[in-house]
Amino acid sequence: MMLESGRVNREELLQILADIKRDDLRASEIIKRMRAMLSRRDIERCRFSLNEVVEQTATVLRSEASRRGISVDYELRARHADILGDPVQIQQAIINLMLNAFDATTGGPPQDACRVRVETSDTPGGVKLSVRDFGAGIAPANLTRVFDSFFSTKRDGMGLGLPITRSIVEAHGGMIDATSCEVGAEFRIILPMAPAARGPDQPMSSAQ
Ligand SMILES: Nc1ncnc2c1ncn2[C@@H]1O[C@H](COP(=O)(O)OP(=O)(O)OP(=O)(O)O)[C@@H](O)[C@H]1O
Ligand SMILES: [Mg+2]
Repeated sequence: MMLESGRVNREELLQILADIKRDDLRASEIIKRMRAMLSRRDIERCRFSLNEVVEQTATVLRSEASRRGISVDYELRARHADILGDPVQIQQAIINLMLNAFDATTGGPPQDACRVRVETSDTPGGVKLSVRDFGAGIAPANLTRVFDSFFSTKRDGMGLGLPITRSIVEAHGGMIDATSCEVGAEFRIILPMAPAARGPDQPMSSAQ
């Protein structure tokens, strides 16, 4: 209508195009997630470091964090961070947890609230990833529901991020839990550690 009227407001047109692009990206994200949830493909299994995937995720989310004024602290303390599985899926799980932490952080009071902490550490037989925010936390009544499909308290939330994250973690033989802290929330994932790699002087089988 604007173009047909001959009175083109450049600013408004740019805004309209930006809105279309944003909605388009959101729609494609939803479709991608639905496909991920509905497809029952076997996971690819390779050996990779959880610390490295966290570092790659940091790069992916850097501009999103700075756009929202959130500073993310990374503490990659796991010394035995190798796991077996699909690094792309594990990255998706971490992204889901971090975006939730960003959502919880945005709109909260300033100061500590603008901080998200991502940490890896060793646990017996496994490696732990924790994503901690200082937002509003999770209401006790919702703690058991956050992993349910389509449970969302957000205006434009699908309620799919956490159920998808849980299926990814469980497909990797791991577990996930959520805690509401005095301030904010913490989500923890524990994944089984990959078996020790064989060195060059440890042949797979001895020649007979
Ligand atoms: N870090 C958090 N702090 C507080 N509440 C949270 C946090 N993470 C998740 N939740 C709660 O769990 C609900 C479900 O999260 P989930 O990621 O599955 O869906 P969503 O974020 O609402 O939508 P989307 O499908 O876009 O991820 C959220 O709507 C919110 O109520
Ligand atoms: Mg989410």
